[in-house]
Amino acid sequence: MNKINLTTKIGTLVFKNPVTVASGTFGSKGEYAHYFPLERLGAVVTKTVTRAPRRGNQMPRIWETPSGMLNSIGLQNKGIDDFIEHKIPYFQNIKTHLIVNIAGESVDDFVYLAKRLDSVKGVSALELNISCPNVKKGLEFCARPDLAFEVVREVKQATKLPIFTKLSPEARDFLGVTEAVIKAGTNGVSLINTIRGMAVDIEKRTPQLANIFGGLSGPAIRPIALRYVYEVKQAFDIPVIAMGGISTAQDALEFLITGADLVAVGTATFVNPTAPIEVVSGIEAYLKRKKHTSVSDIRGTLKVNQEQKSNGATAG
Ligand code: SIN
Repeated sequence: MNKINLTTKIGTLVFKNPVTVASGTFGSKGEYAHYFPLERLGAVVTKTVTRAPRRGNQMPRIWETPSGMLNSIGLQNKGIDDFIEHKIPYFQNIKTHLIVNIAGESVDDFVYLAKRLDSVKGVSALELNISCPNVKKGLEFCARPDLAFEVVREVKQATKLPIFTKLSPEARDFLGVTEAVIKAGTNGVSLINTIRGMAVDIEKRTPQLANIFGGLSGPAIRPIALRYVYEVKQAFDIPVIAMGGISTAQDALEFLITGADLVAVGTATFVNPTAPIEVVSGIEAYLKRKKHTSVSDIRGTLKVNQEQKSNGATAG
Protein backbone atom coordinates (compact mmCIF):
# COMPACT_ATOMS: atom_id res chain seq x y z
CA MET A 1 0.00 0.00 0.00
CA ASN A 2 1.40 3.42 -0.97
CA LYS A 3 1.92 6.07 1.64
CA ILE A 4 -1.12 8.26 2.16
CA ASN A 5 -0.69 11.75 0.70
CA LEU A 6 -2.29 14.35 2.96
CA THR A 7 -0.74 17.30 1.14
CA THR A 8 -3.17 20.14 0.52
CA LYS A 9 -2.51 23.05 -1.80
CA ILE A 10 -4.17 26.44 -1.55
CA GLY A 11 -2.79 28.83 -4.15
CA THR A 12 0.98 28.93 -3.61
CA LEU A 13 0.79 27.42 -0.11
CA VAL A 14 1.44 23.71 0.27
CA PHE A 15 0.26 22.26 3.58
CA LYS A 16 1.68 18.89 4.68
CA ASN A 17 -1.78 17.88 5.89
CA PRO A 18 -5.21 19.55 6.01
CA VAL A 19 -5.35 19.96 9.79
CA THR A 20 -4.83 23.23 11.61
CA VAL A 21 -6.14 24.87 14.78
CA ALA A 22 -8.78 27.55 15.27
CA SER A 23 -7.63 31.01 16.23
CA GLY A 24 -7.91 31.74 19.92
CA THR A 25 -7.79 28.13 21.05
CA PHE A 26 -4.10 27.42 20.59
CA GLY A 27 -2.33 30.34 22.23
CA SER A 28 0.07 32.63 20.41
CA LYS A 29 3.36 30.80 20.85
CA GLY A 30 4.35 27.31 21.95
CA GLU A 31 1.63 26.76 24.56
CA TYR A 32 0.76 23.32 23.13
CA ALA A 33 4.27 22.28 22.15
CA HIS A 34 4.73 20.05 25.20
CA TYR A 35 1.77 17.96 24.07
CA PHE A 36 3.03 17.32 20.51
CA PRO A 37 5.51 18.76 18.02
CA LEU A 38 3.72 21.63 16.28
CA GLU A 39 5.27 20.65 12.93
CA ARG A 40 2.86 17.73 12.83
CA LEU A 41 0.11 20.20 11.96
CA GLY A 42 -0.58 21.49 8.46
CA ALA A 43 -0.53 25.01 9.91
CA VAL A 44 -0.78 26.91 13.16
CA VAL A 45 -3.25 29.80 13.41
CA THR A 46 -2.52 32.29 16.18
CA LYS A 47 -4.87 34.07 18.54
CA THR A 48 -5.95 37.42 17.14
CA VAL A 49 -3.32 40.16 17.19
CA THR A 50 -4.37 43.82 17.27
CA ARG A 51 -2.54 47.08 16.67
CA ALA A 52 -2.38 48.04 20.36
CA PRO A 53 -2.38 45.76 23.41
CA ARG A 54 -5.84 44.81 24.70
CA ARG A 55 -6.72 43.71 28.24
CA GLY A 56 -9.84 41.91 27.04
CA ASN A 57 -13.31 41.96 28.57
CA GLN A 58 -14.30 41.82 32.23
CA MET A 59 -14.43 38.37 33.87
CA PRO A 60 -16.21 35.98 33.99
CA ARG A 61 -15.77 35.52 30.26
CA ILE A 62 -15.94 31.74 29.77
CA TRP A 63 -19.00 29.58 30.39
CA GLU A 64 -19.39 25.90 29.60
CA THR A 65 -22.63 24.96 27.82
CA PRO A 66 -24.09 21.66 26.59
CA SER A 67 -21.62 20.43 23.94
CA GLY A 68 -19.89 23.77 23.79
CA MET A 69 -18.57 26.88 25.39
CA LEU A 70 -19.37 30.58 25.46
CA ASN A 71 -16.43 32.96 25.44
CA SER A 72 -16.24 36.71 25.58
CA ILE A 73 -12.49 37.14 25.85
CA GLY A 74 -12.49 40.41 23.92
CA LEU A 75 -9.34 39.90 21.85
CA GLN A 76 -6.93 40.04 24.79
CA ASN A 77 -3.38 40.24 23.42
CA LYS A 78 -0.17 42.22 23.83
CA GLY A 79 -0.36 43.97 20.45
CA ILE A 80 1.60 43.73 17.22
CA ASP A 81 4.96 45.04 18.51
CA ASP A 82 5.18 42.34 21.17
CA PHE A 83 3.90 39.75 18.70
CA ILE A 84 6.59 40.46 16.14
CA GLU A 85 9.34 40.73 18.71
CA HIS A 86 8.49 37.82 21.03
CA LYS A 87 6.04 35.41 19.36
CA ILE A 88 7.02 35.13 15.71
CA PRO A 89 10.68 34.19 16.34
CA TYR A 90 9.45 31.06 18.13
CA PHE A 91 7.66 29.92 14.96
CA GLN A 92 10.59 30.62 12.65
CA ASN A 93 12.10 27.29 13.73
CA ILE A 94 8.86 25.30 13.48
CA LYS A 95 8.48 23.60 10.14
CA THR A 96 4.86 24.35 9.44
CA HIS A 97 2.87 27.28 8.11
CA LEU A 98 2.04 30.14 10.43
CA ILE A 99 -1.24 31.95 9.76
CA VAL A 100 -1.53 35.13 11.81
CA ASN A 101 -5.06 36.19 12.74
CA ILE A 102 -5.46 39.98 12.84
CA ALA A 103 -8.31 42.30 13.85
CA GLY A 104 -8.86 46.03 13.84
CA GLU A 105 -11.48 48.63 14.59
CA SER A 106 -10.95 50.37 11.25
CA VAL A 107 -9.74 49.59 7.73
CA ASP A 108 -6.62 51.53 8.63
CA ASP A 109 -5.91 49.15 11.56
CA PHE A 110 -6.18 46.11 9.29
CA VAL A 111 -3.95 47.72 6.67
CA TYR A 112 -1.39 48.72 9.32
CA LEU A 113 -1.24 45.18 10.71
CA ALA A 114 -0.98 43.63 7.25
CA LYS A 115 1.91 45.96 6.34
CA ARG A 116 3.74 45.20 9.60
CA LEU A 117 3.49 41.46 8.97
CA ASP A 118 4.09 41.55 5.23
CA SER A 119 7.81 40.95 5.22
CA VAL A 120 8.21 39.22 8.58
CA LYS A 121 10.03 35.91 8.10
CA GLY A 122 7.97 32.90 9.04
CA VAL A 123 4.51 34.32 8.36
CA SER A 124 2.75 32.32 5.62
CA ALA A 125 -0.64 34.01 5.52
CA LEU A 126 -3.05 36.31 7.32
CA GLU A 127 -6.49 35.50 8.63
CA LEU A 128 -8.66 38.63 8.82
CA ASN A 129 -10.92 38.44 11.83
CA ILE A 130 -13.86 40.54 10.68
CA SER A 131 -16.31 38.53 12.77
CA CYS A 132 -15.40 38.71 16.48
CA PRO A 133 -18.70 38.89 18.39
CA ASN A 134 -17.11 40.09 21.63
CA VAL A 135 -15.84 43.60 20.90
CA LYS A 136 -17.65 46.78 19.89
CA LYS A 137 -16.72 46.91 16.23
CA GLY A 138 -15.94 43.19 15.94
CA LEU A 139 -18.81 42.29 13.64
CA GLU A 140 -19.00 45.59 11.78
CA PHE A 141 -17.07 44.56 8.68
CA CYS A 142 -18.86 41.29 8.14
CA ALA A 143 -22.27 42.86 8.69
CA ARG A 144 -22.37 44.40 5.20
CA PRO A 145 -20.95 43.26 1.85
CA ASP A 146 -19.65 46.76 0.99
CA LEU A 147 -17.69 47.07 4.25
CA ALA A 148 -16.34 43.53 3.96
CA PHE A 149 -15.27 44.29 0.38
CA GLU A 150 -13.47 47.47 1.38
CA VAL A 151 -11.41 45.98 4.19
CA VAL A 152 -10.32 42.97 2.13
CA ARG A 153 -9.48 45.08 -0.93
CA GLU A 154 -7.36 47.48 1.14
CA VAL A 155 -5.52 44.67 2.95
CA LYS A 156 -4.94 42.90 -0.35
CA GLN A 157 -3.23 46.02 -1.69
CA ALA A 158 -1.10 46.31 1.45
CA THR A 159 0.40 42.81 1.49
CA LYS A 160 1.77 40.07 -0.73
CA LEU A 161 0.70 37.45 1.85
CA PRO A 162 -2.29 35.24 1.03
CA ILE A 163 -5.32 36.21 3.09
CA PHE A 164 -8.16 34.19 4.54
CA THR A 165 -11.21 36.12 5.71
CA LYS A 166 -13.00 34.77 8.77
CA LEU A 167 -16.77 35.08 8.51
CA SER A 168 -19.67 34.63 10.86
CA PRO A 169 -23.24 33.40 10.51
CA GLU A 170 -24.07 36.62 12.38
CA ALA A 171 -23.78 38.30 8.94
CA ARG A 172 -27.37 38.60 7.77
CA ASP A 173 -26.39 38.44 4.11
CA PHE A 174 -23.85 35.67 4.56
CA LEU A 175 -23.50 34.70 0.91
CA GLY A 176 -23.46 38.37 -0.12
CA VAL A 177 -20.58 39.03 2.28
CA THR A 178 -18.77 35.92 1.06
CA GLU A 179 -19.15 37.03 -2.55
CA ALA A 180 -17.88 40.50 -1.64
CA VAL A 181 -14.69 39.25 0.01
CA ILE A 182 -14.04 36.93 -2.93
CA LYS A 183 -14.45 39.85 -5.36
CA ALA A 184 -12.09 41.89 -3.19
CA GLY A 185 -9.42 39.23 -3.61
CA THR A 186 -9.45 37.06 -0.51
CA ASN A 187 -7.51 33.84 -1.11
CA GLY A 188 -9.87 31.84 1.04
CA VAL A 189 -12.54 32.08 3.70
CA SER A 190 -12.53 30.72 7.25
CA LEU A 191 -15.94 29.37 8.25
CA ILE A 192 -17.29 29.90 10.86
CA ASN A 193 -16.60 32.22 13.78
CA THR A 194 -18.60 31.72 16.96
CA ILE A 195 -22.29 32.58 17.27
CA ARG A 196 -23.52 34.89 20.05
CA GLY A 197 -25.34 33.27 22.94
CA MET A 198 -25.89 33.76 26.65
CA ALA A 199 -26.42 31.90 29.92
CA VAL A 200 -28.10 32.93 33.17
CA ASP A 201 -27.27 32.29 36.84
CA ILE A 202 -30.73 31.53 38.22
CA GLU A 203 -29.69 32.05 41.87
CA LYS A 204 -28.33 35.54 41.32
CA ARG A 205 -30.55 36.23 38.27
CA THR A 206 -27.58 37.65 36.42
CA PRO A 207 -25.91 36.74 33.13
CA GLN A 208 -23.12 34.20 33.61
CA LEU A 209 -20.79 36.32 31.47
CA ALA A 210 -19.80 39.84 32.49
CA ASN A 211 -20.36 40.90 28.89
CA ILE A 212 -23.86 39.24 28.82
CA PHE A 213 -23.20 37.63 25.42
CA GLY A 214 -20.39 35.34 24.37
CA GLY A 215 -19.48 33.46 21.21
CA LEU A 216 -20.70 29.85 21.22
CA SER A 217 -18.18 27.30 19.96
CA GLY A 218 -17.73 23.53 20.20
CA PRO A 219 -19.73 20.54 18.91
CA ALA A 220 -23.01 22.43 19.49
CA ILE A 221 -22.30 24.57 16.41
CA ARG A 222 -20.77 21.88 14.19
CA PRO A 223 -23.87 21.16 12.09
CA ILE A 224 -24.28 24.90 11.51
CA ALA A 225 -20.64 25.25 10.43
CA LEU A 226 -21.02 22.28 8.10
CA ARG A 227 -24.09 23.82 6.51
CA TYR A 228 -22.23 27.07 5.79
CA VAL A 229 -19.25 25.23 4.32
CA TYR A 230 -21.65 23.30 2.09
CA GLU A 231 -23.49 26.44 0.97
CA VAL A 232 -20.29 28.36 0.23
CA LYS A 233 -18.73 25.46 -1.67
CA GLN A 234 -21.91 25.08 -3.72
CA ALA A 235 -22.00 28.78 -4.57
CA PHE A 236 -18.33 29.70 -5.06
CA ASP A 237 -15.00 28.29 -6.15
CA ILE A 238 -13.02 29.46 -3.09
CA PRO A 239 -10.74 27.63 -0.64
CA VAL A 240 -12.30 27.12 2.78
CA ILE A 241 -10.73 26.63 6.19
CA ALA A 242 -13.52 25.00 8.20
CA MET A 243 -13.96 25.33 11.94
CA GLY A 244 -16.80 24.94 14.42
CA GLY A 245 -16.80 22.02 16.83
CA ILE A 246 -14.34 19.81 14.93
CA SER A 247 -13.08 17.42 17.62
CA THR A 248 -12.41 14.08 15.93
CA ALA A 249 -11.33 12.66 12.57
CA GLN A 250 -14.97 11.73 11.89
CA ASP A 251 -15.94 15.42 12.27
CA ALA A 252 -13.04 16.56 10.10
CA LEU A 253 -13.94 14.05 7.40
CA GLU A 254 -17.51 15.37 7.24
CA PHE A 255 -16.07 18.81 6.39
CA LEU A 256 -13.48 17.49 3.92
CA ILE A 257 -16.08 15.42 2.10
CA THR A 258 -18.28 18.54 1.98
CA GLY A 259 -15.40 20.36 0.30
CA ALA A 260 -13.31 22.05 3.01
CA ASP A 261 -9.65 22.51 2.07
CA LEU A 262 -8.35 22.71 5.63
CA VAL A 263 -10.05 21.80 8.90
CA ALA A 264 -9.31 23.58 12.18
CA VAL A 265 -9.67 21.97 15.59
CA GLY A 266 -10.66 24.55 18.20
CA THR A 267 -12.54 24.19 21.48
CA ALA A 268 -11.73 20.44 21.54
CA THR A 269 -8.09 21.18 22.42
CA PHE A 270 -9.21 22.60 25.79
CA VAL A 271 -10.55 19.14 26.67
CA ASN A 272 -8.07 17.03 24.74
CA PRO A 273 -4.86 18.91 23.85
CA THR A 274 -3.75 16.20 21.43
CA ALA A 275 -7.05 16.29 19.47
CA PRO A 276 -5.48 18.02 16.41
CA ILE A 277 -2.91 15.29 15.80
CA GLU A 278 -5.44 12.55 16.54
CA VAL A 279 -7.49 14.11 13.75
CA VAL A 280 -4.47 13.87 11.39
CA SER A 281 -3.92 10.18 12.13
CA GLY A 282 -7.66 9.44 12.03
CA ILE A 283 -7.97 10.95 8.54
CA GLU A 284 -5.01 8.84 7.44
CA ALA A 285 -6.57 5.67 8.90
CA TYR A 286 -9.88 6.40 7.14
CA LEU A 287 -8.16 6.92 3.79
CA LYS A 288 -6.27 3.62 4.24
CA ARG A 289 -9.46 1.79 5.18
CA LYS A 290 -11.23 3.20 2.13
CA LYS A 291 -8.21 2.31 -0.05
CA HIS A 292 -7.51 5.90 -1.06
CA THR A 293 -3.99 7.22 -1.42
CA SER A 294 -4.65 10.93 -1.13
CA VAL A 295 -6.90 13.28 0.83
CA SER A 296 -7.85 14.89 -2.47
CA ASP A 297 -9.59 11.61 -3.40
CA ILE A 298 -12.35 12.41 -0.91
CA ARG A 299 -12.42 16.22 -0.79
CA GLY A 300 -15.72 17.58 -2.08
CA THR A 301 -17.09 14.13 -2.90
CA LEU A 302 -20.37 14.58 -1.03
CA LYS A 303 -23.13 12.87 -2.97
CA VAL A 304 -26.21 15.05 -3.25
CA ASN A 305 -28.69 14.38 -6.02
CA GLN A 306 -30.57 16.96 -8.03
CA GLU A 307 -33.82 16.38 -6.16
CA GLN A 308 -32.12 16.90 -2.78
CA LYS A 309 -30.50 20.06 -4.13
CA SER A 310 -33.70 21.57 -5.35
CA ASN A 311 -35.47 20.72 -2.07
CA GLY A 312 -32.70 22.22 0.07
CA ALA A 313 -33.07 25.76 1.43
CA THR A 314 -30.39 28.34 0.71
CA ALA A 315 -28.40 30.39 3.19
CA GLY A 316 -28.18 34.09 3.20
C1 SIN B 1 -12.24 36.80 21.58
O1 SIN B 1 -11.06 37.04 21.87
O2 SIN B 1 -13.16 37.47 22.04
C2 SIN B 1 -12.58 35.68 20.64
C3 SIN B 1 -12.16 36.00 19.25
C4 SIN B 1 -13.20 35.77 18.22
O3 SIN B 1 -14.23 35.12 18.46
O4 SIN B 1 -13.03 36.24 17.09
